[in-house]
Amino acid sequence: MNVLGIESSCDETAAAVVADGRRILSSVVASQELVHAPYGGVVPELASRRHLEVIVPVVEDALARAGVKLGDLDGIAVTQGPGLVGSLLVGCSLAKALAWVTGLPLVGVNHLEGHIFAAFLAPLPPEYPFLALVVSGGHTALYHAPAPLRYELVGQTRDDAAGEAFDKVAKLLGLGYPGGPAIERTARAGNPAAVAFPLAQMTDQAPDFSFSGIKTAASLLVRRTAPLSAAAVADVSASFQATVVKMLVRKTVRAAVRRGVRRLVLTGGVAANQALREALAAEAQERGLELHVPTPGLCTDNAAMIAVAGAARLAAGERASLDMNARPDLVLA
Ligand code: KG4
Ligand code: ZN
Repeated sequence: MNVLGIESSCDETAAAVVADGRRILSSVVASQELVHAPYGGVVPELASRRHLEVIVPVVEDALARAGVKLGDLDGIAVTQGPGLVGSLLVGCSLAKALAWVTGLPLVGVNHLEGHIFAAFLAPLPPEYPFLALVVSGGHTALYHAPAPLRYELVGQTRDDAAGEAFDKVAKLLGLGYPGGPAIERTARAGNPAAVAFPLAQMTDQAPDFSFSGIKTAASLLVRRTAPLSAAAVADVSASFQATVVKMLVRKTVRAAVRRGVRRLVLTGGVAANQALREALAAEAQERGLELHVPTPGLCTDNAAMIAVAGAARLAAGERASLDMNARPDLVLA
């Protein structure tokens, strides 16, 4: 079964062809980094315009690289939400048009479910049940997946997403956009113990996250000590990254232990971060938990993850009608 996946929820235009729900035949990601970099963040209006310009060539490229024609496909999966409405509309419109002309079954995929399904593209996919930490630019949430296609929200951020905090702190430090990879690179030369940033604790002991405190602390520090030397920027980067990693790892492992879940999935753009990958792997090993992390390229936005999740939904008999529409606030449940 060949499924074409289309992803355009934020600032990457992506298309992929996945065979049998797990073999990537092609995965094309057209990044809009250069479009948004001068503004220090994603400009929604520019994002949807750029999607419009490149989505057809991106899909054609994915089909060509996979060596398949539209007639060789068995289904089309598209990100329905959550995301920027103008961006989502571009992918949904093209997916619907393709489904209409080819008569292929169509399915709408939740972007967060796509991130979770990226773990199924690894040689050893996770078995159910598992606990998934989805850390991206728009979301930071822990989901319990008791069985295929079933999700229960365990905890989430009460303010900023972890990726958003990386992006904002990178901007404060003048490291540019996107901030996550820039902070990770800069942190290599810094001391993670140089700055004692606050570790957010929930007074109600909930497995929720909060990153506004550390963002504010970083902002005050930068304002107080400006102009920062290159060494100071590296120290702030390293300390910020270490603190965010500590918060993410601690909450995730605690929630898994509390629920008696033995398997973890780490995914989403921030999961490309090596310090986070290593810290969670070390902690998981210590606690005897099994950890599944997609390769960095499958952690950040891509369409292969949408195709895999879509393949699972199509196999379960799910079909979207042609009046399916973008849902910017779609929740995963
Ligand atoms: O999943 P994603 O590609 O898009 C969304 O669904 O939001 O995640 C993008 C986020 C951005 O905030 C970016 O700065 C962050 O993931 N990110 C990273 C790294 N690579 C991407 N954060 C920390 N370290 C990285 N290496
Ligand atoms: Zn994403």
